[in-house]
Amino acid sequence: MKTEKVILEVKNLKKYFRVDSRRVLKAVDDVSFQIYEGETLGIVGESGCGKTTCGRTCIGVYDKTDGQVLYRGQDVHQMNKVQKKEFTKQVQMIFQDPYSSLDPRKKVHDIIAEGMRIHHLVDSGAQEVEEVQKLLLQVGLNAEHASRYVHEFSGGQRQRIGIARALAVNPEFLLCDEPISALDVSVQAQIVNLLVRLQKERGLTSMFIAHDLSMVKHISDRVGVMYLGNMVELAASRELYRNPLHPYTQALLSAIPIPNPEIEKNRKQIHLAGEIPSPMNPPKGCHFCNRCSRAKDRCRMEAPVLREVEPQHYVACHLQ
Ligand SMILES: Nc1ncnc2c1ncn2[C@@H]1O[C@H](COP(=O)(O)OP(=O)(O)OP(=O)(O)O)[C@@H](O)[C@H]1O
Ligand SMILES: [Mg+2]
Repeated sequence: MKTEKVILEVKNLKKYFRVDSRRVLKAVDDVSFQIYEGETLGIVGESGCGKTTCGRTCIGVYDKTDGQVLYRGQDVHQMNKVQKKEFTKQVQMIFQDPYSSLDPRKKVHDIIAEGMRIHHLVDSGAQEVEEVQKLLLQVGLNAEHASRYVHEFSGGQRQRIGIARALAVNPEFLLCDEPISALDVSVQAQIVNLLVRLQKERGLTSMFIAHDLSMVKHISDRVGVMYLGNMVELAASRELYRNPLHPYTQALLSAIPIPNPEIEKNRKQIHLAGEIPSPMNPPKGCHFCNRCSRAKDRCRMEAPVLREVEPQHYVACHLQ
């Protein structure tokens, strides 16, 4: 359940990667947003637009280049050792690839129990066994799975193990980075439903990164759309789908098929011209201007800032 309390505050965050002595790649370039306690914020955008970099910089996995990230008011990039340890317990990640993110040499029990040991959450071996078994059941696996190795599991089952591992330390915030993209379509909905259920049961807050808008719609309270290192639109999930204001969001939404043949037949799909430009050499002005059919001179000269154009609906576009 979304509350009014801000848990994560991102202010003018920049993350640049130095490519060589002369060039920098602006993966995240001046992004600001907030995540409220108990909500799921979806982040969408094409490959390479900076979603993973943004997520990882927000939780301190990457240093920032500029700006500030506050978690419960505390600067994520300025924590001392004790604060950092508590933060790494409270904030957990679920990765895209359940094949490479789980250690193949460890038994499932040890993978899940590792965090509990680091944070001294169990007093005895027996309690550890019990906790691991409880978690396995919660994610739809069973107790016997604890003694197996990850190669014995399917992709969907591995992702369930990854989720159990993240939950083992009883976190309050999850960064889910495309947790279903590597999975078979038939399994994707099961994992999304599992995440939705667990988030509700445990009152978790999460940032849910995904490629396409159709998937985040079901899981997110609000959705942020990224394009080439910028946040171009941010609104409540339903509002964004009903009333997309940025031409890029409109194009993304028009690519999602509607399961009603009448509506689908009469619908115009907006084709984006050209490729997404290199973040090393983005267009001047609005980064989207070279693919936007409505771009004006101003769009090619001046970068638009994200501003509230309707209550709680933010967009970075000169045409709004
Ligand atoms: N460690 C790094 N060093 C240099 N460049 C990087 C690094 N990590 C990411 N990049 C670049 O930063 C940009 C954003 O990458 P990022 O992985 O954040 O995108 P993404 O939106 O998560 O893409 P995808 O949907 O493919 O996962 C890309 O151009 C990428 O090549
Ligand atoms: Mg990514």
